[in-house]
Amino acid sequence: MAALTVERVSWTIGAVPIVHDVTLHLEPDEFVALIGPNGAGKTSLFNLVSGLRRPNSGRILLGGDDITAQAPHRRARHGLGRTFQTSAVFGSLTVAGNVALAVQARRGGAMRAWRRRSDRDLTLRVAEILAEVRLEHRAGRTAGSLAHGEKRKLEIALLLAGEPRVLLLDEPMAGVSTEDVPALVEVIRGLTAGTGRSVLMVEHHMEVVLDLADRVAVLHHGALLACDTPAAVMADAFVQEAYLGEGL
Ligand SMILES: Nc1ncnc2c1ncn2[C@@H]1O[C@H](COP(=O)(O)OP(=O)(O)O)[C@@H](O)[C@H]1O
Ligand SMILES: [Mg+2]
Repeated sequence: MAALTVERVSWTIGAVPIVHDVTLHLEPDEFVALIGPNGAGKTSLFNLVSGLRRPNSGRILLGGDDITAQAPHRRARHGLGRTFQTSAVFGSLTVAGNVALAVQARRGGAMRAWRRRSDRDLTLRVAEILAEVRLEHRAGRTAGSLAHGEKRKLEIALLLAGEPRVLLLDEPMAGVSTEDVPALVEVIRGLTAGTGRSVLMVEHHMEVVLDLADRVAVLHHGALLACDTPAAVMADAFVQEAYLGEGL
């Protein structure tokens, strides 16, 4: 069963079609990159999947469950995680403190007693997440003092605290300096490998896309032009004309 299914989804603003009849499947462990020129509708599609916007038509399924009508926080509970351009990091808190808050937010509420019962569990979970994003050595640093690349890793850590099965990453390399890109790429690669998680990532750096993606989906004027292996998409004449021809 697909981890995420986008089925004939369309979204208009007034009479203007922004996302047009998009169908896309994401398998467990699969990494799909979403590319397309500025204004193609990539972020809009993310908004539809995460629930910030409702499609005019079509369905969105997480696992086998229809989540089309669900509010964003319910989708998150059901395993959908999303990063934003603007960060949700508390700059004056430590890196570990930020992750601990996110883990508590996930497990808190109805499970308030959990907090007192197992501070040790919390500490262990935070350490586990920091290890996954390779930020253990920064645990005691204030988040505000991190370089851009490390801040992105922390944002991914906050996402992992929600225990997502499907992750939506919107331009994770934006603002990251060239020398910090390889380390971030390795963290992002690790998000799917053998974890059962799936990633849908919007990214403009083609070398990163070709390196990470199992499949590449090309959006153009709100419609999906292609969704295939990186090699097949790069070889597609229509894609080359519509997208690659415009320059990256
Ligand atoms: N809330 C909105 N109101 C008006 N226009 C919007 C809104 N959101 C997106 N758009 C328009 O939809 C198109 C797609 O935008 P977007 O999804 O941000 O593209 P991308 O992320 O691919 O650059 C653009 O033309 C943009 O101006
Ligand atoms: Mg965008």
